[in-house]
Amino acid sequence: ATPSGQYDAVVIGGGPGGYVAAIKAAQLGLKTACIEKRGTLGGTCLNVGCIPSKAMLNNSHIYHQTLHDIKKRGIDVEGVKLNLQQMLKAKDDSVNGLTKGIESLFKKNKVDYIKGAASFVSPKLISVQLNDGGKSTVEAKTVIIATGSEVAPFPGGAIEIDEQQIVSSTGALSLQKVPEKMVVIGGGIIGLEMGSVWSRLGAEVTVVEFLNSIGGAGIDEEISKQFQKSLTKQGLKFKLSTKVLSAEKKDGKVVVTTEAAKDGKQDSLEADVVLVAVGRRPYTQGLGLENIGVEVDSRGRIVIDDQFNTSVPNIKCIGDVTFGPMLAHKAEEEGIAAVEYIHSGHGHVNYGTIPSVVYTHPEVAWVGKTEQELKADGVKYKVGRFPFLANSRAKTNLDTEGQVKFLVEAETDRILGVHIIGPNAGEMIAEGVLALEYGASAEDIARTTHAHPTLSEAFREAALQVSSGNAIHF
Ligand code: FAD
Ligand code: NAI
Repeated sequence: ATPSGQYDAVVIGGGPGGYVAAIKAAQLGLKTACIEKRGTLGGTCLNVGCIPSKAMLNNSHIYHQTLHDIKKRGIDVEGVKLNLQQMLKAKDDSVNGLTKGIESLFKKNKVDYIKGAASFVSPKLISVQLNDGGKSTVEAKTVIIATGSEVAPFPGGAIEIDEQQIVSSTGALSLQKVPEKMVVIGGGIIGLEMGSVWSRLGAEVTVVEFLNSIGGAGIDEEISKQFQKSLTKQGLKFKLSTKVLSAEKKDGKVVVTTEAAKDGKQDSLEADVVLVAVGRRPYTQGLGLENIGVEVDSRGRIVIDDQFNTSVPNIKCIGDVTFGPMLAHKAEEEGIAAVEYIHSGHGHVNYGTIPSVVYTHPEVAWVGKTEQELKADGVKYKVGRFPFLANSRAKTNLDTEGQVKFLVEAETDRILGVHIIGPNAGEMIAEGVLALEYGASAEDIARTTHAHPTLSEAFREAALQVSSGNAIHF
């Protein structure tokens, strides 16, 4: 039977923010339900975001490497062929395994999973349109809204997404054929990750970006330039400082019209598939916020205070649907903190230490301040660098592109930012996050033993370079 009745905590949305909040709430002894309408748990991230994109990135990298990189390693293979259907199936299998895994975690932790669309009747009463038909009503002492985000449509309706030829990230995760030519609108994280996937699988990819740099918000300028060089070497083409005006289907192709930022000159590009990746927006459709007066800002974000309270006393909000970076781990941290506020009155998220990772090859990862931010804030800082070219493990792996870059406060040696482009940057950044959390100095890292031979020695050497003036191996 579908659960109904009274709960201490009801979470609306089963994405990384919502499902983590629900598990944590149950672990803290609250009678908890999570309402999700998708039919599977895990939200955007597991179903059409983080997980399927990483499956495609990983397997397309192996394919690309097999074609172009393994001969020099002494491995001769012949007749390498792409089996796109199998690659898509491997992705779907990962997604299915993980979404079912969350269902088991709900059972284990005694979270009631209600499959349906939630809508507020009053601040404590939620009506659910059940996926299997019919309605149910649940009563909640506290509600956490975690309804996430959706693809932002192209402004002014100038481009219509059909998820076949003109796709969002969702369609780009399931293309049934490798396009000959692909135009990616937006050089943010989605554009670069999905552009990389299809480029590796054989598409000629052109990324059109309105700004004069790639990588999205928060990337360090120097790293962004290095990143662009690296992707260009892999075959991606970039048209920067160029705005897409429209995309129209014509004779089986899509014609993309662009305008140069500098002089307004118009141009056009032809593509088999166009990926629209110009951002995401908060999702609150059908939630009935208007029935209870929850405040929403001009960009559609639910307004919260520093304890995740909305304008309605018993309702909290976390994740993509409110302020801050749209990242799964940020949503998860907020989910835990919001529940801790409900349970004990105390919770904490350190917004200064949320890492960003772009899962291309090389990977790009960062945490803390960029050089341009430090300059703007008038902070006196020092830069430490170490190239992977001088790291023994990167050398043995024949994978030496990139560097670790430290930004530290000049006077105190305190680490203010870490920026990495290189192999395994996404794993390595965890050490930078920990360093910032603990308020470490570069010398602290430089005096910490790192196993040899590992890529992480590059991390230590960059810290050594900035704290003592010299690295050992460069
Ligand atoms: P969501 O994951 O969006 O979940 C919200 C859920 O609420 C949805 O399942 C929705 O069906 C449900 N819902 C909405 N309204 C209702 C309602 N009224 N009733 C019931 N249910 C409702 N982030 C990373 O950190 N790392 C990555 O590698 C990464 N890769 C990404 C790749 C792509 C292609 C995309 C699109 C995103 C990626 N992201 C990544 C971002 C990440 O997916 C989001 O930040 C994250 O999913 C936000 O979690 P959330 O819980 O706030 O919302
Ligand atoms: P984004 O905001 O990162 O990038 C969009 C880009 O499109 C911007 O650089 C913008 O200048 C450009 N743009 C906008 N309009 C344009 C136009 N008309 N012509 C040309 N360029 C235009 O958004 P994106 O890439 O869609 O990602 C959405 C969210 O998903 C991000 O917030 C990101 O955090 C999250 N995400 C995270 C991932 C990760 O952590 N690895 C992976 C994928 C997504």
